[in-house]
Amino acid sequence: MIRPLFALLMLASAIPALAEEKPLTRIAFGSCADQDRPLPIFEKLADLKPELFIALGDNIYADLKPEKGVTEMESMKIKYQKLAAVPGWVKINKTCPIMATWDDHDYGKNDIGEEYKHKDESQTIFLDFFNVPKDDPRRTQKGVYHAKTFGPEGKRVQVILLDTRYFRSKLKKGTAPLPGMRGLPYVPNTDPGATFLGEEQWKWLEAQLKQPAEIRLLGSSVQVVSEDHPFEKWMNIPAEREKLFKVIRDANAGGVIVLSGDRHLAEISMLPKGIGYPLYDITSSGFNQGFQGWRAVEKNSHLVAAMPHGNNFGLVTIDWMATPSPRISLQVRDEEGEIAIKDTLPLHLLKPGPAVAELPVKPKEGAISPRDALKKKGEKVVVEMKVQATGSSKTRIFLNSEKNRSDELNFTIVLSTKALTGKYEKATKETFANKVIRVTGTVGEFNGTLQIVVDEEKQLEILE
Ligand SMILES: [Fe+2]
Repeated sequence: MIRPLFALLMLASAIPALAEEKPLTRIAFGSCADQDRPLPIFEKLADLKPELFIALGDNIYADLKPEKGVTEMESMKIKYQKLAAVPGWVKINKTCPIMATWDDHDYGKNDIGEEYKHKDESQTIFLDFFNVPKDDPRRTQKGVYHAKTFGPEGKRVQVILLDTRYFRSKLKKGTAPLPGMRGLPYVPNTDPGATFLGEEQWKWLEAQLKQPAEIRLLGSSVQVVSEDHPFEKWMNIPAEREKLFKVIRDANAGGVIVLSGDRHLAEISMLPKGIGYPLYDITSSGFNQGFQGWRAVEKNSHLVAAMPHGNNFGLVTIDWMATPSPRISLQVRDEEGEIAIKDTLPLHLLKPGPAVAELPVKPKEGAISPRDALKKKGEKVVVEMKVQATGSSKTRIFLNSEKNRSDELNFTIVLSTKALTGKYEKATKETFANKVIRVTGTVGEFNGTLQIVVDEEKQLEILE
């Protein structure tokens, strides 16, 4: 039964309509709100006037200090009522649409997954609280995953919110605690059947990623990129993390940025490889659960910027008019609403690269790709590649297989002046830009980059 107060608050949480044609420019998000403690940060968040607010889970702590004398589900409803009465929450609700998914504590229990026995009831309570219409697919499907696209063509933001709880297989724990850690660390679950999203949700996600959009905010309650810490994260089931990258690649989906929570810290991480372009994961946690003492920045081999302590929320801003492409600012804001950490990306960085959209030239018989040439140090080979970037010095022309010459997959052809004779006598770097070339030579190394130095005209052929 829904209590009268709850019903009233549900009405109050009616989402103001957003003109879907208007491009989004300010999206706030975050996670981890203990409804039993003050949440002044919500007011700072509302003051920034976001056009959309994404609640990424642990939106309440249903399992901590359960209400006395009522069932687990009644207690959960009371916790939601408490959240609904928080002044900052009321302010957000009045001024901006909310999209939400859940994490463990609002789903039901710490770190729990598909084995949670009240998950269907919990789902109904969640959907009621967020005022999800009766005809919404989430009212009949298992799990709270959903997506919505905002804005006109050319300025579309697709928000995809995953459910990382309903189907997630039980995680595996190690046998020995790590120094300074309570409990046992998670270790990779490599069981072939282990899943994060479950079959249905995977199919749905694949279809979503094929929908047209310029920017895709992929909300996952737990971190996707960060992989070194012993807590919950996608890396707990490595094959599923790989699968996530693969479905993004296979869909040729550009503009993906992960939003995550859960950790009671904030950070921006970036994985240079995996989806064909840099995958950013901006983690904001928590609204009032950020670590309050001092602590060092956690080990994260993909770290861009960290805020290891203090309450926080995330803000993504988009300048659609920026040149040469729209500019996205990923920000973590502190309790005062000030920027604590940020990174700014031009949207063209988030385009599927040669590894996806523009597949490297398939070499003809006897020739190999530049990626294969990277494995042939010291060997004489024939390489065929598309010149993605060029450079020159007084005595040399450099032809690169990747747009960014510091890319770890870059292979370089170095043309010395000795090679620039005969048909290449008047050649400049522009002669080779975007051309497919065939080069014969021995793979050598210079300053950590593998390359072939071409000293004779006959080593080099322009194919197209
Ligand atoms: Fe939390």
